[in-house]
Amino acid sequence: MIIEGKHYRTVWFDQDTNVVSMINQIKLPFEFEIVHFSDYRQTAEAIRNMTVRGAGAIGATAGYAMAQAFVETEDWELRQEARDFIENTRPTAVNLFYATAKVFEAGRASVSEAIGMAQMIADEDADGCQRIGEYGNTLIQHKQRILTHCNAGWLAFVDYGSALSPVYAAHNAGKQPFVYVDETRPRGQGARLTAYELFQNEVEHRIIADNAAAFYMAKGDINMVITGADRITANGDVANKIGTMEKAILAKEFGIPFYVAAPFSTIDFAMESGALIPIEERDDEELLYHEGPDEQNTIHKVRMASPGSLGLNPAFDVTPAKYIKAFITDKGILKPDELKQFQ
Ligand code: MRU
Repeated sequence: MIIEGKHYRTVWFDQDTNVVSMINQIKLPFEFEIVHFSDYRQTAEAIRNMTVRGAGAIGATAGYAMAQAFVETEDWELRQEARDFIENTRPTAVNLFYATAKVFEAGRASVSEAIGMAQMIADEDADGCQRIGEYGNTLIQHKQRILTHCNAGWLAFVDYGSALSPVYAAHNAGKQPFVYVDETRPRGQGARLTAYELFQNEVEHRIIADNAAAFYMAKGDINMVITGADRITANGDVANKIGTMEKAILAKEFGIPFYVAAPFSTIDFAMESGALIPIEERDDEELLYHEGPDEQNTIHKVRMASPGSLGLNPAFDVTPAKYIKAFITDKGILKPDELKQFQ
């Protein structure tokens, strides 16, 4: 992705120094900062504290962290300990587990195989997302108005993104898409990250409150919905950022096609249905406080909920397959019941 004229990936690995570098997504959109991590524990911590987030990006980062661990120690017990440590950072996005398993298996041959696998996972993520853009673009008509939820753009992957990749492809093809960006409470990945990406790419968009989608759907202003996914089960159910399910139900009510864009690394064929997906519960501070800069650019955290009250903060919900018109994948556009044939 191009930021101020320079191409960046969201996360990358220098195998000569064993350092993982990434864009610090905690500071975006107010500050663009690159951070560097020289051991697997630091890299895993960056997943846990959401310096890096989004299914593909945490998958690539977890693969890199696993490779770092192989460089750091030859002891198989410690390598297993490292794998457990990395896998205990965030439970829902399956890309993380896909990457640690692949790098760990490759590492049985040699350290350089582990590193090669980690690099390959990141490259495949970027290539797959580019293909998602090409396939998804075929669904987008001139001047279509698209609703998206959370951030499933290039920041959530190594490059291009999933839900936003078709939007970028359509934009580059001159179709002038317009994007309604759900703010995505409580962390605001839509208002902060999706809006930042679209602004950088000069795609026309507006941030809307999470509860405004029905209003625009009822007016006939939204032509299609595209979201990402953190885990897709064998039957086509989808875990994605909290609030996705209600958008899917609304879309069905208003006869608007609801698409889920994701690479095959997000499909968990070993899990039969969405009821089995572990859902991350996050700190209620994300809900009860807001964070942002004052006019001097100093970041402040302010409480916005009644003092003394506690919150509940599930990070994801599960959209049943019946609400999904199709998946936009790196292997083409597939109906929920067509996924299994690729198992
Ligand atoms: O909690 P996050 O920010 O890591 O959430 C993951 C997501 O970015 C979304 O659920 C997204 O829509 C799918 S991941 C590309």
